[in-house]
Amino acid sequence: MPNTAIDIQRQLLTEKSTWWKNSVGYQIYPRSFKDSNHDGIGDLNGIHQKLPYLKELGIDFIWINPIYASPNADNGYDISDYQAIHKDFGTMEDFQSLVKEAHELDIKIIMDLVVNHTSDQHPWFLESKKSLDNPYRDYYHWVDATPEQLPNDWQSFFGGSTWTYDETTKQAYFHVFAKEQPDLNWTNPKVRHEIYQMIRWWLELGIDGFRIDAISHIQKEAWDFKITDNQWAPFMNVAGIENYLAELRAIFNEYNVMTVGEASGVPHSEASEWTGDHGYFNMIFELEHCQRVGELGSQKGSIFHLKHSLNQWQTSLADDGWNALYLENHDTPRSVSVYGDDSPEAAKALATVLLLLKGTPFIYQGQELGMTNFPFSSIEEIDAADTIHFYQTLLTEGKTTKEALNIAINWSRDHSRTPFQWDESLFGGFSTVTPWLKVNQNHQLINATQKDVETNSVFHYYQQLIRLRKSTEALIYGVFTLLLPEHPTVFSYTRTTETESWLILVQLDQNQITVTFPDSWETAGWEEVLTNTEYKPLAHKMILSDYEAHVYRKV
Ligand code: GLC
Ligand code: CA
Repeated sequence: MPNTAIDIQRQLLTEKSTWWKNSVGYQIYPRSFKDSNHDGIGDLNGIHQKLPYLKELGIDFIWINPIYASPNADNGYDISDYQAIHKDFGTMEDFQSLVKEAHELDIKIIMDLVVNHTSDQHPWFLESKKSLDNPYRDYYHWVDATPEQLPNDWQSFFGGSTWTYDETTKQAYFHVFAKEQPDLNWTNPKVRHEIYQMIRWWLELGIDGFRIDAISHIQKEAWDFKITDNQWAPFMNVAGIENYLAELRAIFNEYNVMTVGEASGVPHSEASEWTGDHGYFNMIFELEHCQRVGELGSQKGSIFHLKHSLNQWQTSLADDGWNALYLENHDTPRSVSVYGDDSPEAAKALATVLLLLKGTPFIYQGQELGMTNFPFSSIEEIDAADTIHFYQTLLTEGKTTKEALNIAINWSRDHSRTPFQWDESLFGGFSTVTPWLKVNQNHQLINATQKDVETNSVFHYYQQLIRLRKSTEALIYGVFTLLLPEHPTVFSYTRTTETESWLILVQLDQNQITVTFPDSWETAGWEEVLTNTEYKPLAHKMILSDYEAHVYRKV
Protein backbone atom coordinates (compact mmCIF):
# COMPACT_ATOMS: atom_id res chain seq x y z
CA MET A 1 0.00 0.00 0.00
CA PRO A 2 1.38 3.41 -0.89
CA ASN A 3 1.86 5.57 2.16
CA THR A 4 3.62 8.68 1.03
CA ALA A 5 2.83 11.17 -1.70
CA ILE A 6 5.93 10.00 -3.54
CA ASP A 7 4.79 6.37 -3.36
CA ILE A 8 1.42 7.30 -4.74
CA GLN A 9 2.97 9.28 -7.55
CA ARG A 10 5.29 6.40 -8.35
CA GLN A 11 2.41 3.96 -8.42
CA LEU A 12 0.37 6.19 -10.71
CA LEU A 13 3.32 6.51 -13.05
CA THR A 14 3.81 2.74 -13.20
CA GLU A 15 0.16 2.20 -13.90
CA LYS A 16 0.22 4.80 -16.62
CA SER A 17 3.28 3.36 -18.28
CA THR A 18 1.96 -0.19 -18.19
CA TRP A 19 -1.54 0.50 -19.51
CA TRP A 20 -0.92 -2.23 -22.08
CA LYS A 21 -1.00 -4.90 -19.36
CA ASN A 22 -4.70 -4.51 -18.79
CA SER A 23 -5.52 -3.79 -22.41
CA VAL A 24 -6.84 -5.85 -25.28
CA GLY A 25 -5.45 -5.19 -28.74
CA TYR A 26 -6.99 -5.53 -32.18
CA GLN A 27 -4.98 -5.98 -35.35
CA ILE A 28 -6.16 -4.31 -38.54
CA TYR A 29 -4.94 -5.37 -41.96
CA PRO A 30 -5.97 -2.13 -43.66
CA ARG A 31 -6.25 -3.47 -47.23
CA SER A 32 -8.97 -5.85 -46.08
CA PHE A 33 -10.84 -4.06 -43.32
CA LYS A 34 -13.21 -1.52 -44.90
CA ASP A 35 -13.19 0.25 -48.26
CA SER A 36 -14.67 3.74 -47.91
CA ASN A 37 -14.13 5.10 -51.45
CA HIS A 38 -15.18 2.18 -53.65
CA ASP A 39 -11.90 1.09 -55.19
CA GLY A 40 -11.90 -2.43 -53.74
CA ILE A 41 -9.12 -1.63 -51.25
CA GLY A 42 -9.60 -0.98 -47.55
CA ASP A 43 -8.42 2.42 -46.30
CA LEU A 44 -7.94 4.75 -43.34
CA ASN A 45 -11.37 6.34 -43.64
CA GLY A 46 -12.81 2.83 -43.61
CA ILE A 47 -11.11 2.19 -40.27
CA HIS A 48 -12.37 5.57 -39.07
CA GLN A 49 -15.96 4.60 -39.94
CA LYS A 50 -15.67 1.38 -38.02
CA LEU A 51 -14.25 2.77 -34.77
CA PRO A 52 -17.67 2.49 -33.08
CA TYR A 53 -17.71 -1.22 -33.97
CA LEU A 54 -14.32 -1.66 -32.28
CA LYS A 55 -15.48 0.32 -29.30
CA GLU A 56 -18.49 -1.96 -28.99
CA LEU A 57 -16.22 -4.99 -29.06
CA GLY A 58 -14.36 -3.49 -26.12
CA ILE A 59 -10.76 -3.33 -27.32
CA ASP A 60 -8.28 -0.71 -26.09
CA PHE A 61 -5.83 -0.28 -28.94
CA ILE A 62 -5.41 -1.11 -32.58
CA TRP A 63 -2.25 -2.16 -34.36
CA ILE A 64 -2.43 -1.20 -38.02
CA ASN A 65 -0.29 -3.08 -40.56
CA PRO A 66 1.94 -0.80 -42.70
CA ILE A 67 0.16 2.12 -44.36
CA TYR A 68 3.27 3.85 -45.73
CA ALA A 69 4.15 4.53 -49.37
CA SER A 70 5.08 1.22 -50.96
CA PRO A 71 5.22 -0.50 -54.36
CA ASN A 72 3.49 -3.42 -52.61
CA ALA A 73 5.88 -6.22 -53.49
CA ASP A 74 5.00 -7.45 -49.99
CA ASN A 75 1.80 -5.49 -49.36
CA GLY A 76 3.32 -2.53 -47.58
CA TYR A 77 6.22 -4.33 -45.90
CA ASP A 78 8.43 -2.86 -48.63
CA ILE A 79 8.45 0.82 -47.77
CA SER A 80 9.57 3.47 -50.27
CA ASP A 81 8.83 6.49 -48.05
CA TYR A 82 8.59 6.11 -44.28
CA GLN A 83 6.95 9.48 -43.83
CA ALA A 84 4.19 9.25 -46.44
CA ILE A 85 0.84 7.47 -46.44
CA HIS A 86 0.18 5.03 -49.28
CA LYS A 87 -2.32 6.65 -51.64
CA ASP A 88 -4.48 3.49 -51.55
CA PHE A 89 -5.04 4.18 -47.85
CA GLY A 90 -5.63 7.94 -47.96
CA THR A 91 -3.64 10.96 -46.81
CA MET A 92 -1.70 12.15 -43.79
CA GLU A 93 -4.76 14.23 -42.85
CA ASP A 94 -6.89 11.07 -42.90
CA PHE A 95 -4.36 9.43 -40.63
CA GLN A 96 -4.30 12.31 -38.20
CA SER A 97 -8.04 12.51 -38.03
CA LEU A 98 -8.18 8.74 -37.40
CA VAL A 99 -5.77 9.13 -34.48
CA LYS A 100 -7.76 12.04 -33.10
CA GLU A 101 -11.09 10.27 -33.28
CA ALA A 102 -9.66 7.03 -31.88
CA HIS A 103 -8.16 8.93 -28.96
CA GLU A 104 -11.49 10.57 -28.31
CA LEU A 105 -12.99 7.10 -28.04
CA ASP A 106 -10.10 6.07 -25.78
CA ILE A 107 -8.63 3.73 -28.38
CA LYS A 108 -4.86 3.85 -28.79
CA ILE A 109 -3.00 3.51 -32.08
CA ILE A 110 0.03 1.27 -32.62
CA MET A 111 1.91 1.55 -35.91
CA ASP A 112 3.98 -1.06 -37.73
CA LEU A 113 7.68 -0.21 -37.80
CA VAL A 114 9.55 -1.94 -40.63
CA VAL A 115 13.26 -1.23 -40.30
CA ASN A 116 15.03 -4.46 -41.13
CA HIS A 117 14.64 -3.54 -44.79
CA THR A 118 13.20 -0.95 -47.16
CA SER A 119 11.69 -1.24 -50.61
CA ASP A 120 14.12 -1.48 -53.52
CA GLN A 121 12.33 1.69 -54.69
CA HIS A 122 13.26 3.64 -51.56
CA PRO A 123 15.43 6.66 -52.56
CA TRP A 124 18.25 5.31 -50.33
CA PHE A 125 18.37 2.08 -52.29
CA LEU A 126 18.00 3.76 -55.68
CA GLU A 127 21.06 5.86 -54.76
CA SER A 128 22.89 2.94 -53.21
CA LYS A 129 22.60 0.94 -56.43
CA LYS A 130 24.20 3.64 -58.57
CA SER A 131 27.88 3.19 -57.82
CA LEU A 132 30.40 1.69 -55.43
CA ASP A 133 31.19 5.11 -54.01
CA ASN A 134 27.68 6.49 -53.75
CA PRO A 135 27.16 8.03 -50.28
CA TYR A 136 24.26 5.62 -49.75
CA ARG A 137 26.21 2.52 -50.80
CA ASP A 138 26.75 1.42 -47.19
CA TYR A 139 23.11 1.86 -46.27
CA TYR A 140 22.67 -1.70 -47.54
CA HIS A 141 24.78 -4.86 -47.69
CA TRP A 142 26.73 -5.15 -50.96
CA VAL A 143 29.34 -7.84 -51.68
CA ASP A 144 31.42 -8.75 -54.75
CA ALA A 145 29.76 -11.46 -56.78
CA THR A 146 29.00 -12.84 -60.22
CA PRO A 147 25.60 -14.10 -61.36
CA GLU A 148 26.92 -17.66 -60.86
CA GLN A 149 28.95 -17.06 -57.74
CA LEU A 150 26.96 -15.37 -54.99
CA PRO A 151 28.65 -14.52 -51.68
CA ASN A 152 27.15 -17.59 -49.93
CA ASP A 153 24.32 -20.09 -50.25
CA TRP A 154 21.95 -18.68 -47.61
CA GLN A 155 18.28 -18.94 -48.46
CA SER A 156 15.69 -16.18 -47.96
CA PHE A 157 12.41 -16.58 -46.07
CA PHE A 158 10.41 -16.16 -49.23
CA GLY A 159 12.44 -18.72 -51.18
CA GLY A 160 15.58 -18.41 -53.31
CA SER A 161 18.93 -16.88 -52.41
CA THR A 162 19.33 -14.02 -49.94
CA TRP A 163 21.46 -12.35 -52.63
CA THR A 164 20.48 -10.55 -55.80
CA TYR A 165 23.20 -9.75 -58.29
CA ASP A 166 23.27 -6.29 -59.80
CA GLU A 167 25.01 -5.76 -63.13
CA THR A 168 25.71 -2.00 -62.67
CA THR A 169 28.35 -2.47 -60.01
CA LYS A 170 28.94 -6.21 -60.32
CA GLN A 171 28.02 -6.84 -56.71
CA ALA A 172 25.07 -8.53 -55.01
CA TYR A 173 22.86 -7.06 -52.28
CA PHE A 174 21.44 -8.94 -49.32
CA HIS A 175 17.76 -9.53 -48.45
CA VAL A 176 16.25 -11.96 -45.95
CA PHE A 177 12.80 -11.53 -47.55
CA ALA A 178 12.01 -10.79 -51.23
CA LYS A 179 14.55 -9.23 -53.59
CA GLU A 180 12.38 -6.10 -53.55
CA GLN A 181 13.15 -5.79 -49.81
CA PRO A 182 16.89 -5.07 -49.45
CA ASP A 183 18.13 -5.28 -45.84
CA LEU A 184 19.37 -2.09 -44.24
CA ASN A 185 22.92 -2.12 -42.92
CA TRP A 186 22.49 -1.59 -39.18
CA THR A 187 26.25 -1.54 -38.60
CA ASN A 188 26.27 1.86 -40.34
CA PRO A 189 25.67 4.60 -37.72
CA LYS A 190 24.22 6.89 -40.41
CA VAL A 191 21.49 4.35 -41.14
CA ARG A 192 20.63 4.05 -37.48
CA HIS A 193 20.57 7.81 -37.12
CA GLU A 194 18.10 8.18 -40.02
CA ILE A 195 15.88 5.41 -38.65
CA TYR A 196 15.85 6.93 -35.17
CA GLN A 197 14.93 10.34 -36.59
CA MET A 198 12.04 8.78 -38.47
CA ILE A 199 10.86 6.95 -35.36
CA ARG A 200 10.87 10.20 -33.38
CA TRP A 201 8.94 11.92 -36.14
CA TRP A 202 6.11 9.38 -35.81
CA LEU A 203 6.20 9.47 -32.03
CA GLU A 204 5.92 13.24 -32.12
CA LEU A 205 2.65 12.81 -34.04
CA GLY A 206 1.20 11.31 -30.89
CA ILE A 207 0.91 7.62 -31.72
CA ASP A 208 0.90 5.22 -28.79
CA GLY A 209 3.49 2.69 -29.82
CA PHE A 210 4.95 0.34 -32.40
CA ARG A 211 4.80 -3.25 -33.46
CA ILE A 212 8.35 -3.73 -34.67
CA ASP A 213 8.57 -5.91 -37.75
CA ALA A 214 11.17 -8.64 -38.30
CA ILE A 215 13.41 -7.02 -35.70
CA SER A 216 15.30 -10.19 -34.76
CA HIS A 217 16.96 -10.15 -38.21
CA ILE A 218 18.76 -6.80 -38.16
CA GLN A 219 22.11 -8.31 -37.18
CA LYS A 220 23.81 -10.78 -39.55
CA GLU A 221 26.66 -13.25 -39.09
CA ALA A 222 29.85 -12.81 -41.14
CA TRP A 223 29.19 -13.78 -44.76
CA ASP A 224 31.44 -16.86 -44.45
CA PHE A 225 29.48 -18.24 -41.47
CA LYS A 226 28.78 -21.94 -41.96
CA ILE A 227 25.21 -23.13 -41.45
CA THR A 228 24.94 -26.35 -39.44
CA ASP A 229 21.42 -27.25 -38.29
CA ASN A 230 19.29 -24.12 -38.58
CA GLN A 231 19.24 -22.53 -42.02
CA TRP A 232 18.02 -19.22 -40.60
CA ALA A 233 20.78 -19.00 -37.96
CA PRO A 234 22.92 -16.50 -39.94
CA PHE A 235 20.32 -13.76 -39.56
CA MET A 236 18.14 -14.69 -36.64
CA ASN A 237 18.79 -13.24 -33.19
CA VAL A 238 22.54 -13.00 -33.90
CA ALA A 239 24.86 -11.85 -31.10
CA GLY A 240 25.51 -8.12 -31.22
CA ILE A 241 21.84 -7.34 -31.91
CA GLU A 242 21.46 -6.30 -28.27
CA ASN A 243 23.38 -3.07 -28.89
CA TYR A 244 20.93 -1.87 -31.52
CA LEU A 245 17.94 -3.00 -29.52
CA ALA A 246 19.18 -1.04 -26.52
CA GLU A 247 19.41 2.10 -28.66
CA LEU A 248 15.84 1.57 -29.83
CA ARG A 249 14.66 0.99 -26.29
CA ALA A 250 16.14 4.27 -25.15
CA ILE A 251 14.02 6.15 -27.69
CA PHE A 252 10.84 4.26 -26.86
CA ASN A 253 11.40 4.87 -23.15
CA GLU A 254 11.77 8.57 -23.73
CA TYR A 255 8.29 8.68 -25.21
CA ASN A 256 6.84 6.10 -22.86
CA VAL A 257 5.07 4.19 -25.63
CA MET A 258 4.06 0.56 -25.95
CA THR A 259 6.30 -1.75 -27.97
CA VAL A 260 5.82 -5.26 -29.26
CA GLY A 261 8.66 -6.75 -31.26
CA GLU A 262 8.18 -9.49 -33.83
CA ALA A 263 10.90 -11.82 -32.60
CA SER A 264 11.14 -14.80 -34.86
CA GLY A 265 13.84 -17.20 -33.69
CA VAL A 266 13.85 -15.96 -30.09
CA PRO A 267 13.29 -19.08 -27.95
CA HIS A 268 11.31 -19.03 -24.70
CA SER A 269 14.57 -19.55 -22.83
CA GLU A 270 15.63 -16.04 -23.88
CA ALA A 271 12.19 -14.53 -23.44
CA SER A 272 12.92 -12.36 -20.46
CA GLU A 273 16.05 -10.87 -22.03
CA TRP A 274 13.75 -9.54 -24.71
CA THR A 275 10.80 -8.43 -22.62
CA GLY A 276 11.77 -8.43 -18.95
CA ASP A 277 12.19 -5.37 -16.77
CA HIS A 278 15.50 -4.80 -18.51
CA GLY A 279 14.31 -6.20 -21.85
CA TYR A 280 14.16 -4.43 -25.18
CA PHE A 281 10.40 -4.42 -25.68
CA ASN A 282 7.31 -4.45 -23.49
CA MET A 283 6.44 -7.74 -25.12
CA ILE A 284 7.26 -9.81 -28.16
CA PHE A 285 5.40 -11.85 -30.72
CA GLU A 286 7.13 -15.20 -30.45
CA LEU A 287 6.68 -17.65 -33.29
CA GLU A 288 7.17 -20.96 -31.50
CA HIS A 289 3.57 -21.72 -30.57
CA CYS A 290 2.21 -21.29 -34.08
CA GLN A 291 4.92 -23.33 -35.70
CA ARG A 292 3.59 -25.91 -37.99
CA VAL A 293 4.07 -29.47 -36.85
CA GLY A 294 2.83 -32.46 -38.79
CA GLU A 295 2.19 -33.18 -42.43
CA LEU A 296 2.81 -30.62 -45.15
CA GLY A 297 -0.51 -31.28 -46.87
CA SER A 298 -2.53 -30.87 -43.71
CA GLN A 299 -4.36 -27.76 -42.70
CA LYS A 300 -4.56 -28.81 -39.08
CA GLY A 301 -2.31 -27.60 -36.29
CA SER A 302 -1.36 -29.66 -33.27
CA ILE A 303 -3.33 -28.75 -30.13
CA PHE A 304 -0.74 -30.48 -28.00
CA HIS A 305 2.09 -28.43 -29.47
CA LEU A 306 0.07 -25.24 -29.09
CA LYS A 307 -0.66 -25.94 -25.45
CA HIS A 308 2.89 -26.90 -24.54
CA SER A 309 4.48 -24.06 -26.33
CA LEU A 310 2.13 -21.49 -24.79
CA ASN A 311 2.78 -23.08 -21.41
CA GLN A 312 6.54 -22.64 -21.90
CA TRP A 313 6.09 -18.96 -22.69
CA GLN A 314 3.73 -18.46 -19.78
CA THR A 315 6.19 -20.04 -17.35
CA SER A 316 9.30 -18.40 -18.83
CA LEU A 317 7.75 -14.98 -18.34
CA ALA A 318 6.03 -15.73 -15.04
CA ASP A 319 8.16 -13.33 -12.97
CA ASP A 320 9.86 -11.08 -15.43
CA GLY A 321 8.50 -9.90 -18.77
CA TRP A 322 5.12 -10.01 -20.43
CA ASN A 323 3.51 -12.09 -23.19
CA ALA A 324 1.88 -10.84 -26.38
CA LEU A 325 -0.89 -13.36 -26.98
CA TYR A 326 -2.22 -14.25 -30.41
CA LEU A 327 -3.61 -17.11 -32.43
CA GLU A 328 -3.90 -15.30 -35.74
CA ASN A 329 -2.32 -12.51 -37.70
CA HIS A 330 -1.88 -11.42 -41.31
CA ASP A 331 0.80 -14.11 -41.82
CA THR A 332 -1.13 -17.13 -40.54
CA PRO A 333 -4.23 -19.03 -41.61
CA ARG A 334 -7.41 -18.65 -39.52
CA SER A 335 -7.21 -20.26 -36.08
CA VAL A 336 -10.74 -21.66 -36.20
CA SER A 337 -9.68 -23.64 -39.29
CA VAL A 338 -6.23 -24.65 -38.02
CA TYR A 339 -7.19 -25.68 -34.47
CA GLY A 340 -10.95 -26.01 -34.85
CA ASP A 341 -13.63 -27.21 -37.25
CA ASP A 342 -14.80 -23.79 -38.50
CA SER A 343 -17.72 -23.81 -36.05
CA PRO A 344 -18.76 -20.91 -33.79
CA GLU A 345 -18.19 -23.19 -30.78
CA ALA A 346 -14.58 -23.80 -31.81
CA ALA A 347 -14.08 -20.05 -32.31
CA LYS A 348 -15.40 -19.43 -28.79
CA ALA A 349 -13.34 -22.25 -27.27
CA LEU A 350 -10.15 -20.81 -28.77
CA ALA A 351 -11.12 -17.33 -27.60
CA THR A 352 -11.51 -18.64 -24.05
CA VAL A 353 -8.02 -20.12 -24.05
CA LEU A 354 -6.42 -17.05 -25.58
CA LEU A 355 -8.06 -14.21 -23.70
CA LEU A 356 -7.59 -15.57 -20.21
CA LEU A 357 -3.88 -16.38 -20.47
CA LYS A 358 -1.42 -14.00 -18.86
CA GLY A 359 -0.32 -11.31 -21.30
CA THR A 360 -1.83 -8.81 -23.71
CA PRO A 361 -4.23 -10.48 -26.16
CA PHE A 362 -4.27 -9.41 -29.80
CA ILE A 363 -7.43 -10.19 -31.75
CA TYR A 364 -6.91 -10.30 -35.50
CA GLN A 365 -9.71 -8.70 -37.53
CA GLY A 366 -12.53 -11.16 -38.16
CA GLN A 367 -11.36 -13.57 -35.46
CA GLU A 368 -14.12 -12.12 -33.28
CA LEU A 369 -16.65 -13.34 -35.86
CA GLY A 370 -15.10 -16.77 -36.28
CA MET A 371 -13.94 -15.99 -39.83
CA THR A 372 -12.51 -19.12 -41.47
CA ASN A 373 -9.93 -20.09 -44.08
CA PHE A 374 -10.83 -19.49 -47.73
CA PRO A 375 -11.47 -22.47 -50.01
CA PHE A 376 -8.82 -21.50 -52.59
CA SER A 377 -9.18 -23.68 -55.67
CA SER A 378 -6.53 -22.22 -57.97
CA ILE A 379 -3.20 -20.43 -57.61
CA GLU A 380 -4.69 -17.49 -59.56
CA GLU A 381 -6.78 -16.67 -56.51
CA ILE A 382 -3.62 -16.14 -54.43
CA ASP A 383 -1.91 -12.77 -53.96
CA ALA A 384 0.84 -13.63 -51.45
CA ALA A 385 4.15 -13.85 -53.31
CA ASP A 386 5.63 -16.38 -50.89
CA THR A 387 2.73 -18.81 -51.47
CA ILE A 388 3.09 -18.47 -55.24
CA HIS A 389 6.83 -19.04 -54.99
CA PHE A 390 6.32 -22.10 -52.79
CA TYR A 391 3.77 -23.48 -55.27
CA GLN A 392 6.22 -23.06 -58.15
CA THR A 393 9.02 -24.74 -56.20
CA LEU A 394 6.75 -27.70 -55.49
CA LEU A 395 5.99 -27.98 -59.22
CA THR A 396 9.69 -28.02 -60.09
CA GLU A 397 10.16 -30.72 -57.46
CA GLY A 398 7.75 -32.88 -59.48
CA LYS A 399 4.47 -32.39 -57.63
CA THR A 400 1.29 -32.27 -59.75
CA THR A 401 -0.58 -28.94 -59.86
CA LYS A 402 -3.20 -30.39 -57.54
CA GLU A 403 -0.66 -31.62 -54.98
CA ALA A 404 1.34 -28.40 -55.16
CA LEU A 405 -1.77 -26.28 -54.69
CA ASN A 406 -2.95 -28.36 -51.78
CA ILE A 407 0.37 -28.05 -49.96
CA ALA A 408 1.02 -24.40 -50.81
CA ILE A 409 -2.38 -23.00 -49.93
CA ASN A 410 -2.91 -24.84 -46.70
CA TRP A 411 -0.85 -22.46 -44.64
CA SER A 412 -1.03 -19.50 -46.99
CA ARG A 413 -1.17 -16.05 -45.44
CA ASP A 414 -4.00 -15.14 -47.81
CA HIS A 415 -6.51 -17.06 -45.70
CA SER A 416 -6.46 -14.27 -43.16
CA ARG A 417 -6.21 -11.48 -45.73
CA THR A 418 -9.59 -11.95 -47.42
CA PRO A 419 -11.92 -8.97 -46.89
CA PHE A 420 -13.64 -8.47 -43.58
CA GLN A 421 -17.17 -9.85 -43.56
CA TRP A 422 -19.39 -6.98 -42.48
CA ASP A 423 -22.71 -8.23 -43.82
CA GLU A 424 -24.30 -10.69 -46.24
CA SER A 425 -24.32 -8.42 -49.31
CA LEU A 426 -22.43 -9.24 -52.51
CA PHE A 427 -18.94 -8.19 -51.36
CA GLY A 428 -19.62 -8.80 -47.71
CA GLY A 429 -20.21 -5.10 -47.04
CA PHE A 430 -16.46 -4.57 -47.40
CA SER A 431 -16.78 -2.69 -50.68
CA THR A 432 -19.31 -1.94 -53.40
CA VAL A 433 -16.89 -3.11 -56.12
CA THR A 434 -14.86 -6.28 -56.67
CA PRO A 435 -12.28 -6.32 -53.85
CA TRP A 436 -8.54 -6.85 -54.32
CA LEU A 437 -8.87 -10.37 -52.86
CA LYS A 438 -12.00 -12.53 -53.01
CA VAL A 439 -14.56 -12.44 -50.21
CA ASN A 440 -15.29 -15.80 -48.64
CA GLN A 441 -18.71 -17.10 -49.71
CA ASN A 442 -19.50 -17.96 -46.12
CA HIS A 443 -19.96 -14.23 -45.43
CA GLN A 444 -23.64 -14.97 -45.85
CA LEU A 445 -23.50 -16.86 -42.56
CA ILE A 446 -20.44 -15.42 -40.86
CA ASN A 447 -20.60 -11.63 -40.70
CA ALA A 448 -20.72 -8.72 -38.28
CA THR A 449 -24.49 -8.24 -38.43
CA GLN A 450 -24.91 -11.47 -36.45
CA LYS A 451 -23.98 -9.56 -33.33
CA ASP A 452 -27.20 -7.60 -33.65
CA VAL A 453 -29.47 -10.59 -34.02
CA GLU A 454 -27.84 -13.44 -32.14
CA THR A 455 -27.18 -13.12 -28.45
CA ASN A 456 -24.93 -16.18 -28.63
CA SER A 457 -22.82 -14.89 -31.53
CA VAL A 458 -19.03 -15.30 -31.48
CA PHE A 459 -18.77 -11.49 -31.30
CA HIS A 460 -20.94 -11.40 -28.21
CA TYR A 461 -18.84 -14.09 -26.56
CA TYR A 462 -15.64 -12.12 -27.29
CA GLN A 463 -17.28 -9.06 -25.75
CA GLN A 464 -18.04 -11.01 -22.59
CA LEU A 465 -14.51 -12.40 -22.38
CA ILE A 466 -12.96 -8.97 -22.87
CA ARG A 467 -15.17 -7.45 -20.20
CA LEU A 468 -14.44 -10.29 -17.78
CA ARG A 469 -10.72 -10.09 -18.33
CA LYS A 470 -10.51 -6.35 -17.96
CA SER A 471 -12.49 -6.31 -14.75
CA THR A 472 -10.66 -9.17 -13.02
CA GLU A 473 -7.28 -8.62 -11.47
CA ALA A 474 -6.47 -12.33 -11.32
CA LEU A 475 -7.10 -12.69 -15.04
CA ILE A 476 -4.66 -9.89 -15.77
CA TYR A 477 -1.89 -10.39 -13.20
CA GLY A 478 -2.66 -13.77 -11.63
CA VAL A 479 -0.21 -16.67 -11.71
CA PHE A 480 -0.73 -19.14 -14.57
CA THR A 481 -0.61 -22.88 -13.88
CA LEU A 482 -1.27 -25.52 -16.52
CA LEU A 483 -3.55 -28.39 -15.50
CA LEU A 484 -3.81 -31.81 -17.16
CA PRO A 485 -0.51 -31.25 -19.00
CA GLU A 486 -0.55 -34.68 -20.62
CA HIS A 487 -4.02 -34.43 -22.07
CA PRO A 488 -3.78 -34.25 -25.85
CA THR A 489 -6.74 -31.95 -26.49
CA VAL A 490 -7.91 -30.40 -23.24
CA PHE A 491 -6.41 -26.98 -22.49
CA SER A 492 -6.97 -26.24 -18.83
CA TYR A 493 -5.28 -23.81 -16.48
CA THR A 494 -5.72 -21.73 -13.38
CA ARG A 495 -5.06 -18.04 -12.76
CA THR A 496 -4.56 -17.14 -9.15
CA THR A 497 -3.75 -14.28 -6.84
CA GLU A 498 -3.67 -14.34 -3.04
CA THR A 499 -7.37 -13.68 -2.93
CA GLU A 500 -8.82 -15.16 -6.12
CA SER A 501 -8.69 -18.36 -8.16
CA TRP A 502 -9.98 -18.97 -11.65
CA LEU A 503 -10.08 -22.23 -13.56
CA ILE A 504 -10.34 -22.44 -17.34
CA LEU A 505 -11.32 -25.74 -18.93
CA VAL A 506 -11.53 -26.12 -22.71
CA GLN A 507 -11.84 -29.18 -24.93
CA LEU A 508 -10.16 -28.26 -28.23
CA ASP A 509 -11.33 -31.20 -30.27
CA GLN A 510 -14.34 -32.60 -32.06
CA ASN A 511 -14.63 -35.70 -29.89
CA GLN A 512 -16.40 -36.23 -26.63
CA ILE A 513 -13.90 -37.05 -23.90
CA THR A 514 -13.71 -37.67 -20.17
CA VAL A 515 -11.35 -35.62 -18.04
CA THR A 516 -10.31 -36.67 -14.57
CA PHE A 517 -8.86 -34.19 -12.10
CA PRO A 518 -6.60 -35.63 -9.38
CA ASP A 519 -8.37 -36.67 -6.13
CA SER A 520 -6.32 -34.15 -4.21
CA TRP A 521 -8.05 -31.42 -6.16
CA GLU A 522 -10.81 -29.50 -4.45
CA THR A 523 -13.63 -29.37 -6.99
CA ALA A 524 -16.24 -28.04 -4.59
CA GLY A 525 -16.79 -24.32 -4.21
CA TRP A 526 -16.29 -23.29 -7.81
CA GLU A 527 -18.88 -21.17 -9.49
CA GLU A 528 -19.24 -21.16 -13.26
CA VAL A 529 -18.93 -17.68 -14.72
CA LEU A 530 -18.89 -18.21 -18.48
CA THR A 531 -19.40 -21.05 -20.94
CA ASN A 532 -20.01 -21.51 -24.67
CA THR A 533 -22.47 -24.31 -23.89
CA GLU A 534 -24.54 -25.25 -20.86
CA TYR A 535 -23.33 -24.59 -17.35
CA LYS A 536 -21.79 -27.67 -15.78
CA PRO A 537 -20.50 -27.98 -12.21
CA LEU A 538 -16.79 -28.65 -11.81
CA ALA A 539 -16.25 -32.30 -10.80
CA HIS A 540 -13.45 -34.84 -10.55
CA LYS A 541 -14.75 -36.65 -13.59
CA MET A 542 -16.28 -34.62 -16.37
CA ILE A 543 -17.54 -35.50 -19.80
CA LEU A 544 -16.76 -32.78 -22.29
CA SER A 545 -18.09 -32.69 -25.82
CA ASP A 546 -16.61 -30.93 -28.83
CA TYR A 547 -15.14 -27.49 -28.23
CA GLU A 548 -16.75 -27.10 -24.86
CA ALA A 549 -15.38 -24.22 -22.78
CA HIS A 550 -15.95 -23.42 -19.09
CA VAL A 551 -14.67 -20.63 -16.88
CA TYR A 552 -14.97 -21.10 -13.09
CA ARG A 553 -14.23 -18.87 -10.14
CA LYS A 554 -13.54 -20.07 -6.62
CA VAL A 555 -16.09 -18.67 -4.22
C1 GLC B 1 6.98 -9.83 -41.03
C2 GLC B 1 5.58 -9.50 -41.46
C3 GLC B 1 5.31 -10.11 -42.80
C4 GLC B 1 6.30 -9.54 -43.80
C5 GLC B 1 7.74 -9.71 -43.30
C6 GLC B 1 8.68 -8.86 -44.09
O1 GLC B 1 7.16 -11.17 -40.81
O2 GLC B 1 4.66 -9.91 -40.50
O3 GLC B 1 4.01 -9.92 -43.23
O4 GLC B 1 6.14 -10.18 -45.02
O5 GLC B 1 7.89 -9.33 -41.97
O6 GLC B 1 8.55 -7.51 -43.75
CA1 CA C 1 -10.51 2.29 -50.74
